Amino acid sequence: MKLLATLFVLVAVLAAIEAQSQVAGPLITPYPRSVTFGSTTGLLNPQKFKITTSSSSSILAGAIQRYSSLFFPFGNGAASSAPAATLNIKVASASETLDFGVSENYTISATTSSYTITADTIYGAMRGLETFSQLIAYTQSSNSYSIPFLPIVINDYPRFPWRGIMIDTGRHFQPASYIMHLIEGLSYSKFNTLHWHVTDTESFGAEVPNSNVTNPYNSVAVWSTADIQAIVAHGKSYGVRVVPEFDVPAHSYSWRYGAPDMFTNCPSYYNWMDQVPMSPASDNALDVVKSVFTEMSSLFVDSFFHTGGDELALDCWNEDPAVKAWMAQKGFSTVQTEQYFEDYFTTVLQSLNRTKVVWNDPYSNGVALAKDTVVHVWDSTSLMQSIVNDGYRAIASFDYYLNDQIPVSGQTHYEWQDTWQDFYGADPLAGISSNGHLVIGGEGCIWGEQADQFAVDVRVFPRALGISERLWSDESLTDVQSALTRIGALSCRISQRGIASGPLFPDFCLMPDDVADYLETPRSVLSREEVLSILRAN
Ligand SMILES: *[C@@H]1O[C@H](CO)[C@@H](O)[C@H](O)[C@H]1NC(C)=O
Ligand SMILES: *[C@@H]1O[C@H](CO)[C@@H](O)[C@H](O)[C@H]1NC(C)=O
Ligand SMILES: *[C@@H]1O[C@H](CO)[C@@H](O)[C@H](O)[C@H]1NC(C)=O
Repeated sequence: MKLLATLFVLVAVLAAIEAQSQVAGPLITPYPRSVTFGSTTGLLNPQKFKITTSSSSSILAGAIQRYSSLFFPFGNGAASSAPAATLNIKVASASETLDFGVSENYTISATTSSYTITADTIYGAMRGLETFSQLIAYTQSSNSYSIPFLPIVINDYPRFPWRGIMIDTGRHFQPASYIMHLIEGLSYSKFNTLHWHVTDTESFGAEVPNSNVTNPYNSVAVWSTADIQAIVAHGKSYGVRVVPEFDVPAHSYSWRYGAPDMFTNCPSYYNWMDQVPMSPASDNALDVVKSVFTEMSSLFVDSFFHTGGDELALDCWNEDPAVKAWMAQKGFSTVQTEQYFEDYFTTVLQSLNRTKVVWNDPYSNGVALAKDTVVHVWDSTSLMQSIVNDGYRAIASFDYYLNDQIPVSGQTHYEWQDTWQDFYGADPLAGISSNGHLVIGGEGCIWGEQADQFAVDVRVFPRALGISERLWSDESLTDVQSALTRIGALSCRISQRGIASGPLFPDFCLMPDDVADYLETPRSVLSREEVLSILRAN
């Protein structure tokens, strides 16, 4: 068995090496809709390279400043005879609004004497800047930069407008600084949505000033309202929408200090508290929810708001005498009681001008949802087919669980080398025969039981690059060998920017000095002599 596994690895490695030696064009991930290229290499002189635009957007100005460094990760390089050059960015719209469906379209035209990005919006321009960064090659032996394959013409736009990664900070706290770091990684790979599953059974880490619901793991594991605003603003400056999820009426036991009688008494479900829902007989549960949604929607400005709705034990309600009496008085079944909660959440969100996103469970249970609801499908393609046939928009996540380290059982399957391909091969529209236009995109989900801020980067990257290309590029692009070369190249590039992206095959990724210094600085408080004396004593 062990030998067989080794052989598989060897075959994959040889394939990877072969793929790398066949590089025959710009290594861009996700691969653009259309790329034409030539065979001329133009030298770039970082000291004489300018990015200009007539746009007055300060968000775009920030992106230009970032990419002025990201284009040249190893500094200015050796003295260069390359002439001065300008990358000119033309943006049609002055709007800085970032919301669902904003145009991310862009074109790039690059010759040996001129570089241009054109875009409808500043967010399209940002995607173009990322692509442009991936055209630039650094040559270590001459300590210089160049753009091979000139002239290049790229015309690019995303296949789906909703391309997200979900993080779960209910199970493990992730500091605001980490969430902002992750947002940067998402924008490098052209994801445009961070779905932040803020709370769950285990903890409620968000500060909600006028409610009593905050119930963190630890008093330091809290996002203040200023933290949340900073995260949302950081997302905007990187072209990443931040969509919050406050999961109700189950997966919410951490909300219990919001009101004393918020939850249903059903001890036979207490071995899995996730399933225990709020009590409809509570005098205050709905008010607490309303208060949280209202206060949080003033910080999370996106027009979509996720209310979870997954995995509630309907029979839990039958076990609580107060809830049983409430249902009897209303003449409600358990599903009608779930309907009662979902209707209330919808009403609150409508008053806040927010569109509701829910996991597929209410739909599966037979709850009628408002027609503009977006249903987030974790279950299956066949369920998504009936959801879109009923006229709802859908987001696919069933094949994109990044927390599953080995998604295919019964096989030798490696976390990075193999599983990125599982994600890459999973087209959201595979098996969807009608109403596919209602599938608005997909999300990779990194559930938090085994993922804290140290594990998220390396479990999301580079595997999520398979998802980002699937959601951005043309559906006909499915060749794993060419994708492996490109995804490996981007994985190294984002590592050079400080994202802990795992390796896909044996290679060497050269680190800029600042990243290398950080990685190589021991954080031990012991001196080298002290460490040695401890080692000798043992
Ligand atoms: C982006 O370009 C594509 C292809 O031309 C087009 O179908 C799409 O409508 C454009 N998107 C937006 C938001 O303008
Ligand atoms: C707020 O929650 C705490 C428990 O953390 C509780 O002791 C207190 O009574 C609650 N206050 C209100 C007004 O509900
Ligand atoms: C509601 O949100 C939409 C964006 O989704 C926005 O265009 C509209 O102006 C908002 N309406 C109000 C009353 O705020």
